[in-house]
Amino acid sequence: MKIGIFSTPSEASAKAAELVIAEFQAGATNFGVATGSTPDLLYQNLRRAHQLGTFTLEGKRAFALDEYIGISKDHPESYRNVLRRALVGDERTGLREADLHTPEGTTADPHQAARDYDRSIAAAGGIDLQILGIGADGHIGFNEPCGDMHSRTHIDALTDQTITDNARFFGGDPGAVPTHCITQGLGTIMEARQILLLAFGANKARAVMEMVEGPMSARWPATVLQNHSNVTVLLDEDAAANLQLRELHQKRWEMQQ
Ligand code: F6R
Repeated sequence: MKIGIFSTPSEASAKAAELVIAEFQAGATNFGVATGSTPDLLYQNLRRAHQLGTFTLEGKRAFALDEYIGISKDHPESYRNVLRRALVGDERTGLREADLHTPEGTTADPHQAARDYDRSIAAAGGIDLQILGIGADGHIGFNEPCGDMHSRTHIDALTDQTITDNARFFGGDPGAVPTHCITQGLGTIMEARQILLLAFGANKARAVMEMVEGPMSARWPATVLQNHSNVTVLLDEDAAANLQLRELHQKRWEMQQ
């Protein structure tokens, strides 16, 4: 893992955008995209680059990590709608609606939808660059603690912690947050050729420490990334606060720049 520590989310997101733009200039086609607050500034930077003509997702494909089960298609917080607002269209990043892929969260058979989604990623040739955030409980995608570390796209239940954390998107009401989701599995995520994980804020510090320095364990699902050979982690100071080997991470980061 390459660990970059920045003063602010804004500086880390500018670096993230630089890395994404370079990958697409070098020929990447399939973009794995996260939702939640963490990638907001990254997507803002990508929209700016699109306006400036230095970046486009036109003709590329984007695959979401996850989707809530049972959320209506016109709900503003369905992940499809969140990603549509962030990335789709000429006034955003040039991504075409038909090239935005999200798991089907409203179907009668979500298990089949999960299998279909996994196959659609493979059929497209796999993810070139996957953006990840991390939950305070260590989830990536919505792979909550103590699940299968090799899972394919599947249905998971959200922890109370995740429901509480995500209530801010649902008028502050935890009761309004969907309780289940379809998520790319840890095995699916691990097949991405390159992974870029962003984490900001003190509430991520424990999960980040476990992911980077802890033993690999299903208790902290993001620790599975220790076994991937091309992961970059970009942190702000607050998210990096619990790292014990900070100096070593920084020396390695400097060597790689
Ligand atoms: C989102 C996702 C989640 C979030 C995580 C952090 O598609 O899969 O893993 O990345 O819950 O959420 P934020 O960024 O809102 O703190």
